[in-house]
Amino acid sequence: MWCKENMLMQNYCYYSTINEIEKEGIEGKTYLEVGCGPCPIGQILAKKGAKKIYGLDISSSMIENAEINLTKLGLMHQFELVCADIFDTTFKLPEKVDCVVLSYVLTTFINNMDMCTEILRQCKKQLKPGGHICLTDFEYVKIPCEDFWFGMYTSAECPEVFKPFQFFIDKQPEAPFDIFHIPVHTMYEAGLKAGFKQVVYRNQYPDPEHSTNPVMKRYLEECKPTDYILKFIN
Ligand SMILES: C[S@@+](CC[C@H](N)C(=O)[O-])C[C@H]1O[C@@H](n2cnc3c(N)ncnc32)[C@H](O)[C@@H]1O
Repeated sequence: MWCKENMLMQNYCYYSTINEIEKEGIEGKTYLEVGCGPCPIGQILAKKGAKKIYGLDISSSMIENAEINLTKLGLMHQFELVCADIFDTTFKLPEKVDCVVLSYVLTTFINNMDMCTEILRQCKKQLKPGGHICLTDFEYVKIPCEDFWFGMYTSAECPEVFKPFQFFIDKQPEAPFDIFHIPVHTMYEAGLKAGFKQVVYRNQYPDPEHSTNPVMKRYLEECKPTDYILKFIN
């Protein structure tokens, strides 16, 4: 998968997300990874001693592939994979979890405030009291297209809130993704509307071991991304 090979995804986005989750302790904790795809965050949580990770995705092929891959990695015993729509109001896990992870999910299909609030409300229902959602995502940032220097680039104009921009990756330059522009303050507001007691925000940040990498340095200095991690506390 593209994310596995992209140095920014690995050493900036996922690195800082895991680091923030780790601040609450991982050993013995339970998680729900919503829109899990191949469970990139769950895999690391499992290796760091999570008790159980529920991986939920609406796509049955995503779930089947995740199962094959997690079995190969010897991690499947820590997972329970569920094919479901997070908007299904009857959906219920066998237990409430310590943390719900939303990694690059909302900006792929959420295109208005009501949906944004509703998905957070649905995730909140799966949390233990005092548990939290860790939401990691990005808002529009202009990434230049020259030679796929960053392995990715974006269309030139910043769209209005909840309108799409195009995101190109070097593995599939002919098939850009439509990503919905949801600025961090809009996510923050949706969290308060969904009834969370507290919402904490910070920018994603690089793994210190890779902070001098030319791609990392140029991404941070030239693109000035505001890729974010939000913690919604129940
Ligand atoms: C861009 S992928 C993110 C995958 C993974 N979280 C990551 O960080 O790479 C978004 C995922 O959300 C899933 N998804 C979209 N709508 C959903 C819904 N209503 N309920 C559950 N999953 C959904 C898609 O099938 C897809 O696998």
